[in-house]
Amino acid sequence: MKNVYREASALISESEYAIALTGAGISAESGLDTFRGGGGLWEKFKPEEYATISAFRQNPKKCWDLFFAIGDIIDKAKPNLAHEVLAEWETKGLIKSVITQNVDSLHQRAGSKNVVEFHGSHAKLHCISCGYEMDSPSFETIKEIPNCKCGNVLKPAVVLFGEAIPHTALIASERETSRCDCLLVIGTSAQVAPASFIPFTVMSNGGKIIEINPEATPVSNISSLVIRGSSSEALPGINSYIRREN
Ligand code: OAD
Ligand code: ZN
Repeated sequence: MKNVYREASALISESEYAIALTGAGISAESGLDTFRGGGGLWEKFKPEEYATISAFRQNPKKCWDLFFAIGDIIDKAKPNLAHEVLAEWETKGLIKSVITQNVDSLHQRAGSKNVVEFHGSHAKLHCISCGYEMDSPSFETIKEIPNCKCGNVLKPAVVLFGEAIPHTALIASERETSRCDCLLVIGTSAQVAPASFIPFTVMSNGGKIIEINPEATPVSNISSLVIRGSSSEALPGINSYIRREN
C-alpha cells in the first residue's frame, strides 16, 4: 500500500529548497476557527461587512467586533504539533521558510524564524492614516477601541480585503517561491489571491507540491502528493520517517 508519509518524507529530503505555505487549517487544532466552511469565521462575520478596508473606513468600531473575536482566541492559543514540526525542519535545514496567510504568530511561537506573514500580523496595531505602529496589548485587557495619537482608530496590522499585501512580505515570498523546488501546502483552501498563485508558480517552475488538507482544493490537481488529513497528524507522521532517514 502507498505510504504517503514515507513518500512525503522522501520528497522533502530529496529537495534542495523546500518551503511551506500555510493557512488557517494549520491553526485549527490550536483552537482558531478557519474562515470558510461550516462554522467558519465568515459565517459569523460577513467579510464584506467586517473585513474590508472600506468597511473599516466607514465603521471601524464594527470591524473591531471581528478583531476582538480573533484577538481573544489568539491570546489563548498555543502552537500545535504541526507548527512544531515545521520549526524543527527549519532548524535542520529541511525547509527554508514558511509563507503563512495566518496572522496568529503561532509559527514564530513554535520556533520558526524565517516566516513571511503574507496577510500581516495581529501582534501589531497600525494606523492607516499616519502609519504609526505599536505592539498589540493583550486583547482581553483592551477596554476601549484604541485610537492613534492622530485621532484615527487603530487597526490590527492585518491585511483586509481591498488592501495591498505588505511590500516586504510580497518581495520575500517572491524570492522564496522562485527558489522553491518542493512546496508543502498546508491547511489552506487556496482561494484567496495572490497567495493562491504561489503553488501554481512553483509548479510552473518545475517544483513538486505536497498538499496536506482534509478536503480537496484547487491545489490538489497540481500536487505530486496529496495527504487527506489534519496537519497535526500528518506532519508528525512524515517526521517519523524523516527522523529515521536523517
Ligand atoms: P480557509 O478557511 O479558506 O481554509 C482553511 C482550510 O484548512 C480548508 O481547506 C480546510 O479543509 C483546511 N483544514 C481544516 N482543518 C484542518 C486541519 N486540522 N489540518 C489541515 N487543514 C485543515 O483559510 P485560508 O485558506 O487560510 O485572509 O484563507 C485564506 C485567507 O482567507 C485568510 O488568510 C484570510 C481569509 O479571508 C484575509 O483575511 C485577507
Ligand atoms: Zn495615526
